[in-house]
Amino acid sequence: MGLVMGHMVVTACAGFIGSHLTDRLLADGHAVVGIDSFEDCYPRAMKEANLAGARANPAFTLHEANILDLAAEAAPGGPGPGEGAEGSALAALLRGSACVYHLAAQPGVRASWGSSFEVYARHNVLATQQLLEACGAAQVPKVIYASSSSVYGDQDELPLHENMVPRPRSPYGVTKLAGEHLCGLYHANRGLDTVALRFFTVYGPRQRPDMAFYKFISAMLEGREIVIYGDGAQTRDFTYVDDIVEGLVLAQSAPPGALMNLGGGNRVSLAEAIATLGEVMGVQPRLAVRPVEAGDVRDTWADVECARALIAYSPTWSLSAGLLAEVARFA
Ligand SMILES: NC(=O)c1ccc[n+]([C@@H]2O[C@H](COP(=O)([O-])OP(=O)(O)OC[C@H]3O[C@@H](n4cnc5c(N)ncnc54)[C@H](O)[C@@H]3O)[C@@H](O)[C@H]2O)c1
Repeated sequence: MGLVMGHMVVTACAGFIGSHLTDRLLADGHAVVGIDSFEDCYPRAMKEANLAGARANPAFTLHEANILDLAAEAAPGGPGPGEGAEGSALAALLRGSACVYHLAAQPGVRASWGSSFEVYARHNVLATQQLLEACGAAQVPKVIYASSSSVYGDQDELPLHENMVPRPRSPYGVTKLAGEHLCGLYHANRGLDTVALRFFTVYGPRQRPDMAFYKFISAMLEGREIVIYGDGAQTRDFTYVDDIVEGLVLAQSAPPGALMNLGGGNRVSLAEAIATLGEVMGVQPRLAVRPVEAGDVRDTWADVECARALIAYSPTWSLSAGLLAEVARFA
């Protein structure tokens, strides 16, 4: 694979996907520097629990900080090796790393409208630009960016292919697309080796509490109705978190500037997914149907041929096996 020297950096190490990636990199024998600001969009206790394993590993170092603050701070211990991005605390953390995984973001489609867009713009666009500046200054050999299927919006054809013109339907999707474009710019103009991966609806243990399966499982465990938006015929390509993490690891050998879908090969309707969840839990789901929310897309389905060809990505988790694992870890 060629990338064995140097530590790995994971932004969003305390989050759902970032904590799984951190655990995997540590298990593979890497030293990992994690950066996370513990944003309060869900309880800190959940993020602490996500990080419990990593924290017990001496090869892991946590920096609880916002990327934007680290970019604005001078490197500790006197003057850094240069002015601006080069001398920043962020560049100091990144210098000497083999790969920077940039997963930090304000997630969630529905909450991205209105005045909260400012938060999305700051965490998803400004922080990504500052991180890329610092990666350039620190001469990081590989930067892997977590993008999203939400950049596609509603397209006329399925499956969704990287060559399609992105048409995000939510402010969140716009910010994730801006991050992708920034990666492309820093690759083309600054020679930074960036890779962008479009994740499709990720699920599994530690899933964010605002995400559908987390809410469905909680509702069924507590005997409540499951709230769905729309008729349940909308489809999603659900991707188990271990498949995403495998894709993230494989992406270390992706060609510079690559952009790839990471889907799970489990495209089903919401109604089918809920039925599978009901079978896994041995509970008959009861549904409460609400109108479709602004920003929700009708269908997602990843064409993963590009990832298969470039990095031999091959998702293995079935929806029922993945849901069983998520339910099992539900306390
Ligand atoms: N979960 C999914 O289904 C999904 C799908 C597509 C894309 N993604 C992308 O994957 C990434 C991870 O998503 P997740 O579901 O694990 O989210 P998450 O909220 O669990 O994790 C994100 C973490 O980033 C941290 N963070 C946010 N802004 C920061 C900043 N400026 N500086 C430092 N830390 C910051 C937060 O504190 C949080 O712990 C995000 O980039 C998201 O857009 C997720």
